[in-house]
Amino acid sequence: MMMQAQLHCLCLFTLYLTTGYGQEGKFSGPLKPMTFSIFEGQGPSQIIFQFKASPLAVTFKLTGETDDIFQIQPDGLLYHNKALDRETRAVHKLQVSALDAHGNTVEGPVPITIEVKDINDNRPVFLQPKYEGSVRQNSRPGKPFMYVNATDLDDPATPNGQLIYQIIMQLPKVNNVMYFQINNKTGAISLTLEGSQELDPLKNPSYKLVVSVEDMGGQNEHSFSDSTSVDIMVKENIWKTPEPVEIEENSTNPYPIKITQVQWNDPDALYSLVDKEKPSKFPFSIDQEGDIYVTQPLDREEKDAYVFYAAARDEHGKPLAFPLKIQVKVKDINDNPPTCPSTVTVLEVQENEEIGNSIGTLIAHDMDEENTINSLLTYRIVDQTPKVPRDGLFLVQTYSGMFQLAAQSLRKRDTPQYNLTVEVSDKDFKTLCFVQINIIDINDQIPIFEKSDYGNLTLPEDTAIGTVILTIQATDADEPNTGSSKILYRITQGDSEGCLEIETDPQTNTGYVKVKKPLDFEAVAIHNIVFQAENPEPLALGVQYHANSSATFRLIVTDVNEAPQFSQQVYQAKVSEDVAKGTKVGNVTAKDPEGLDISYSLRGDKRGWLKIDPVTGEIFSVAPLDREAESLYQVQVVATEAGGSSLSSTAQFHLTLRDVNDNPPRLVKEYTGLFFCYPPKAPGSLIFEATDDDDQQSFRGRHFTFSLGSESLQKDWEVSKINGTHASLSTKHTGFEERVYHIPVRISDGGWPPLEGTVSLPVTFCKCVEDRCFQPAGHMPGIPTVGMTVGILLSTLLVIGIILAVVFFQIKKNKGQHNVESAQASEVKPLRN
Ligand SMILES: *[C@@H]1O[C@H](CO)[C@@H](O)[C@H](O)[C@H]1NC(C)=O
Ligand SMILES: *[C@@H]1O[C@H](CO)[C@@H](O)[C@H](O)[C@H]1NC(C)=O
Ligand SMILES: *[C@@H]1O[C@H](CO)[C@@H](O)[C@H](O)[C@H]1NC(C)=O
Ligand SMILES: *[C@@H]1O[C@H](CO)[C@@H](O)[C@H](O)[C@H]1NC(C)=O
Ligand SMILES: *[C@@H]1O[C@H](CO)[C@@H](O)[C@H](O)[C@H]1NC(C)=O
Ligand SMILES: *[C@@H]1O[C@H](CO)[C@@H](O)[C@H](O)[C@H]1NC(C)=O
Ligand SMILES: *[C@@H]1O[C@H](CO)[C@@H](O)[C@H](O)[C@H]1NC(C)=O
Ligand SMILES: *[C@@H]1O[C@H](CO)[C@@H](O)[C@H](O)[C@H]1NC(C)=O
Repeated sequence: MMMQAQLHCLCLFTLYLTTGYGQEGKFSGPLKPMTFSIFEGQGPSQIIFQFKASPLAVTFKLTGETDDIFQIQPDGLLYHNKALDRETRAVHKLQVSALDAHGNTVEGPVPITIEVKDINDNRPVFLQPKYEGSVRQNSRPGKPFMYVNATDLDDPATPNGQLIYQIIMQLPKVNNVMYFQINNKTGAISLTLEGSQELDPLKNPSYKLVVSVEDMGGQNEHSFSDSTSVDIMVKENIWKTPEPVEIEENSTNPYPIKITQVQWNDPDALYSLVDKEKPSKFPFSIDQEGDIYVTQPLDREEKDAYVFYAAARDEHGKPLAFPLKIQVKVKDINDNPPTCPSTVTVLEVQENEEIGNSIGTLIAHDMDEENTINSLLTYRIVDQTPKVPRDGLFLVQTYSGMFQLAAQSLRKRDTPQYNLTVEVSDKDFKTLCFVQINIIDINDQIPIFEKSDYGNLTLPEDTAIGTVILTIQATDADEPNTGSSKILYRITQGDSEGCLEIETDPQTNTGYVKVKKPLDFEAVAIHNIVFQAENPEPLALGVQYHANSSATFRLIVTDVNEAPQFSQQVYQAKVSEDVAKGTKVGNVTAKDPEGLDISYSLRGDKRGWLKIDPVTGEIFSVAPLDREAESLYQVQVVATEAGGSSLSSTAQFHLTLRDVNDNPPRLVKEYTGLFFCYPPKAPGSLIFEATDDDDQQSFRGRHFTFSLGSESLQKDWEVSKINGTHASLSTKHTGFEERVYHIPVRISDGGWPPLEGTVSLPVTFCKCVEDRCFQPAGHMPGIPTVGMTVGILLSTLLVIGIILAVVFFQIKKNKGQHNVESAQASEVKPLRN
């Protein structure tokens, strides 16, 4: 049966080989070394290869690691009759030989290698059915704390042997948060971030995980898997912030002193202290057990608290966890005595301070901690110097240090100062502080005059101003050089005119009474004066000035004959310059203090323009006044006492003269050289200028008006105004003779009243040479001829006169020629047409 089946199969495979592929060389070939790969686990009777040998060979032989699986048929067909198992033998080394009919080897033996290829025919299996582990609270996330491990017999070089781990369940699981994670390749189990933060043995000390392992990289639906359970204990984290530490300052125990400790969850951590404040001094250390020490005495008064951090690192210096905050508070001990605020504390108290009033506070200081018994201070007065008038003048409040007046008998005059010694104590120490109390004077004394009456004094009324007429003196018992003892003198009666003043010597308080304004017998002959002495500072309550602060004095003024006095030193008056003779232009008044009659006179009336009425003081003009001569006329007026003494005084009389338009306009100069060339070719014109002798200041901007002096001339001439001062004279035609024309021109000044003047402009028509007037000698226009002159002289003068006349003529002639020439050259220019 069995054989039959085998053969049947072989037939099938032979068929398959020949019909299916049939290629020579892939499934059949000569005998030579070959390697075949065959999957394990395949069905029995699988053909591997058909060997062909030389014709001599009649059969084949198979040897080697056949394991009774591999066989060869006599015709050379190699096959295996059972399924292969890689896990039993992964490689079979076989030898094939070809034999002849005699059984002798013809070829071979030739090595044939069969490699068994893996199929996933093995399940992964966890090494333990159940795992147990533990983890510290707050362990670093991702740091493995245990492993699970599974094996698979399949080839690890193929996916069949590649295992993937996976947590498929966590119990308990709150809010669907995974606290644990597994490395899917290594099976390492660690905490997630949430697990690191939230695991707490007090809430839940144990967890169960179900972990699976899968082969084929977990990617294949044909993969095998296994699972195991993992029990995990959560253990308390011992890396915890220790309680704040209190260290007593200035401890005498030997150093270093252990104050606290920290510990990492595992041994072999490296500890260090981190100080973020970086103070100059850091008196702490840590050893490798995690014990923390203070290395030297602390001083609370220097620094009363420290904060620093303890860090744990692994051997590579990597932090194992967050550093822990270490807080150290330095506890106070009473190691500081009280201190005084200053060497001497100065307080002040007024003489009249009331009993029980606060006069100041001594605030001593203690460096020990505030609001503890170590800095609670008490005060006690232990000495008073001097003990005058008695001891115990002052009190101090035990706890506040406030001083009070215990008795009211302070007098600066007697004791200006007290020194107190005050004992200030805390729990263990005593300190002496010094307090100086100065007594302040108050204005409780009034000035007292040395005498109440300074008697009678007679003075002439002309006593010079500034004369010291009396010295007065009062004294004040208050503290010198203060406003309480300084004295001001005042005259309260008898000097309503203010003729006197009092100057006070600030050192001696002596008062000097002086004449300030002239005394006047005629006004007040007897002054009954009352002096009052006062302090600039107000008096203390209950003290008042009285009669002893004032004194009397009688000043008798005697008469002196005095000169008359003008009512003013300068009298001003103003009149028009054209006032009529005898007009009153001003008056002056003087009075004699003694009431004698006065006679007035003038002095310095150099132009004789004025007279003064000797009785009334009225001043009159006695001659025409002329502003153009004196615009401000200054004379002195004299008042003379009528009696025998003839005392007199003078004052000024200033008379201002107002201008009047009393000067007619005139030509600016004598126009002697005006000419036109003869015969005129066309009408022409000449310019001339007018002026006025009145006040040019007040007539500035005045406009003269010009016109021809005679209407009959209008057919030949024309005058036209150019501006306020200039005008032109023009010819209207050319029909003029060769001679001098005298043209009258009227000029009006437009003043008030308006004044008009008529001037004559001489205009010559003459022959011109190069635009100059050519004058034949001896034919000067407007000058008498030689013959005429001689005739007149002969008939009226003596022979001597003839000589003089000749001389005169010569001078006149030369002067005239000179005039004409210079006028032509520089002043007159004909207007050319
Ligand atoms: C898992 O077990 C195998 C066999 O015992 C071992 O070779 C391997 O090192 C283990 N893996 C781990 C991560 O422990
Ligand atoms: C295994 O874990 C790695 C990273 O941890 C991830 O990239 C990979 O996808 C995981 N493989 C499987 C099959 O889950
Ligand atoms: C420490 O205490 C001693 C007395 O015990 C004292 O003399 C010393 O001044 C103190 N040091 C400080 C810094 O307070
Ligand atoms: C008080 O003490 C000061 C020095 O601090 C000294 O000069 C003064 O004379 C003393 N006064 C009295 C009244 O003892
Ligand atoms: C001052 O004069 C008055 C009267 O003029 C007189 O009564 C008085 O006695 C005089 N006093 C002195 C001190 O002379
Ligand atoms: C004024 O002074 C006199 C003498 O010094 C004295 O007797 C008198 O009492 C004083 N008057 C007053 C009101 O104090
Ligand atoms: C001139 O005297 C009279 C009295 O005679 C007076 O009223 C007038 O004010 C005086 N005029 C001047 C300018 O002093
Ligand atoms: C008026 O006119 C004359 C001639 O043109 C000129 O010289 C003079 O400056 C003028 N005067 C004024 C005030 O304009």
